[in-house]
Parts: sequence; structure tokens; C-alpha cells
Amino acid sequence: MLKDLLATRANPDVPSALSGLFTQDADPSAISFAAGSPNESLFPVAAVQRAFNTAIAKQGAHLFQYQNPQGNPALRAKLAARIGKWGQVTTTAEHVVLTVGGQQAIELVAKALLNPGDEVAVEVPTYVGALAALDLYQPTYYGVGLQSDGIDLDVLETTLKRHPGIKLLYTVPDFHNPTGITMSVAKREQLVALANRYDFIILEDSPYRDLGYEQTPLPAIKSFDTEGRVVFVSSLSKILMPALRTGWLVADDTLLAAIMKVRLASDLEATGVTHAAIDAYLTTNDLDAHVDVLKDHYRVQCAAMVAALGKYFPDEATFTTPAGGFFDWVTLPKDIDTGALLREQISPTAHVSYVPGTNFYPNRDVHNSLRLCFSGLTPTVIDAGIHRLGDQVKAAVHEAKPVV
Ligand SMILES: Cc1ncc(COP(=O)(O)O)c(C=O)c1O
Repeated sequence: MLKDLLATRANPDVPSALSGLFTQDADPSAISFAAGSPNESLFPVAAVQRAFNTAIAKQGAHLFQYQNPQGNPALRAKLAARIGKWGQVTTTAEHVVLTVGGQQAIELVAKALLNPGDEVAVEVPTYVGALAALDLYQPTYYGVGLQSDGIDLDVLETTLKRHPGIKLLYTVPDFHNPTGITMSVAKREQLVALANRYDFIILEDSPYRDLGYEQTPLPAIKSFDTEGRVVFVSSLSKILMPALRTGWLVADDTLLAAIMKVRLASDLEATGVTHAAIDAYLTTNDLDAHVDVLKDHYRVQCAAMVAALGKYFPDEATFTTPAGGFFDWVTLPKDIDTGALLREQISPTAHVSYVPGTNFYPNRDVHNSLRLCFSGLTPTVIDAGIHRLGDQVKAAVHEAKPVV
């Protein structure tokens, strides 16, 4: 059989953690809280169009030549300065690698580090795309729960003591996908101390760090790194446009060399024309001013979401109150399977969608939570959708609970 010739990691009978997440609801009256996309009405299309023209006019044919495997040096210098200013990370363009979205950066780190069976710690729940990338390298996962100020360090330390072979921790410290939680500064520092003590690498994935509604970004975990153990990853997808497919990572020498080795084999280099255009955009536009506009929108949308959850969801449900980003996380009583509820009840009758929480657990073994994304919807639509959803959730909770 042809299938027998495939690598275990690519077996299509075991779907990617990401499969099914990008399907559009065919029903135009449906309200989707599922897709985690930025709001496209906020994309600076005209300015980016001008930037492409500027870059092409300036360099002509040479722009379309093979370029630098680490990516456009001028753009790398700007990103190094940006993470210096907003994340207190001291680095240089030489330690920045431009990637095809943050997603490729995660995959490159997994490829550079993991042999089959290697032990990896992840927050639970965690970003599905990271699970899709890590899954390819067949790790053994250990899930560590989240508290309101980020990963539970006591549980992490107990896990590290039991499994001293853990070599990688993947974390989303800022406005976490899927929960919206942010890791405190104290925990960031303690996490690096644990990495030094127990000898593991931290993959810090932070695409939402600029999108704090009321606050400037916190120091990155990487800013506390004393031994070159932290790989910092971010992206322009959420603050500019995802189709630019521009992410970036910061790594110190040993990890950088390993990452560049696997990067060369993967794609030689990322999209040089786009990077030159982004560099031109950043030269003539104020990205921070653009980010302020985004924050004003997402702040209002998040407030509408939190208010609607308070109004329409039953007391048995708990939900997060994010201080930035795109997501809210709802936990229902244990006996409710939010996947079955969506399929059988909510999607066909209430025409509302969300991502069932199961997708965000490496072993797909927790079923009573859901992720809501508010970034693409107006406050009025958020209110209407959560009203419809809340009625269904109330019915399910009360049905599941025996009447006494
Ligand atoms: C936590 C997290 N990391 C990485 C990504 C990857 O985004 P991109 O590849 O567009 O940069 C996403 C996208 O949703 C995300 O939420």
C-alpha cells in the first residue's frame, strides 16, 4: 500500500492538530467565534502597497534575486531594536532570523531539537499550531496547567523532577492563545531560573505581545536569559497582515546555528521581496501608532465579549478576562463535551461557532472548554452571538444537571 511508504509523522489517518480549524461556515447567518484572525478592516493596505512599490523601484531586478538565508538585514535590525525597546531583549540583527510566519519558527525549533520520543512540556491548553508542528517530531508531552498569572511553576517543577529528560518548554506568555492569560514578570524570571537549573530550552512564542489594551508590553522571557536557552518567536501577522507571512525569531549562537542548518534545508530563505517591502513600510510609517489603533479596536471588542459572557452565560461557566489579544476561554462543567455540543446542537440550531477546547490539549483529553475569538466581530454581533450561544449552553448545563 502506498500509505505504508509514508513517514509515521505524516500519516494522514492521524489528522494535523490544525486540520478543520480553517474551514468556513457555509451558513452566512452564522456568527463565527472560531477563526483566530486579525480584523482585516484594520489592515494598512494602501501603505503596504506603496511600500512594495518603493522597494521594487529602489532595487529593481536585484530585489528578485536570492538574498540572505537569515532574511533582510535592515528589517532584522529594525526587529532587533523593536524587541530591545518593547521587550528589553538585548540582541542584534545577527541573532534574528526571519521566518515564514511565527509558525515556521516554531517548526524549525522543533526540527532542530527533537528526536522521536523526546520529552516536551507545554502549557495546557496551548496553541494548536504548536502542537501540529511539535507532533511531527513525535515527542512525549507533559502538560502543565495555567494560573491567572501564567504557567503553574510548582507543577512545572514537580514535572521536571519526575522527568529530568524534558528538553523543551513551549510557552505563549502574552495574551495566550487560547486563554488570553499573561505570564507575570516574576514568573518569567523564575522560569528562566528553572531552565538553567533543570537544563531545558524555552520556546517563547509571543505574536500578541504588542496588543495589550491598557499596558505596554512586558519584558520578554528572553530578556532574563543568561545562558542562551530561550528562543524568542514573534510575528507581524497580528499587528500588520498575516498574508505577509513574516515571523521572526531571536536565538543565541548554538541554537541559531542549529536552526539555520534546518532552515537552509527547508526553504533556503524566506520571502525577500516581502521583507524589503516591510522594511520600506517601517521606514516611512509609525508601526506603534498603527498598533495603538488596533488596540483601541480590540479593547472594545474584548469588553463586549466579557460583558456578554457575564450577561448570557450560566453561573456554572467560568471565563477569562483578557488584558490583550484576541481570545477568551470558557470552562463549562466537567460533564459537558463542547465538541459534541457544537456539532449536534449549537452549529445547526444557533448558527454560532467556536473552537472546542479539546483541540488545545496535546492528548485531546479535556472536553469541557471552548475558545472564543472576538477580533473580527463588532460589539453588536458579539452580543448577539454570545446571547445565542449562552442560551444553548444554559440548556445544556441544566439538562446535564439532575433537577433536585
Ligand atoms: C500563539 C501563536 N503562535 C504562532 C502563530 C502563528 O502565526 P503566524 O504564522 O501567522 O505568524 C499563531 C497564529 O494564530 C498563534 O496564535
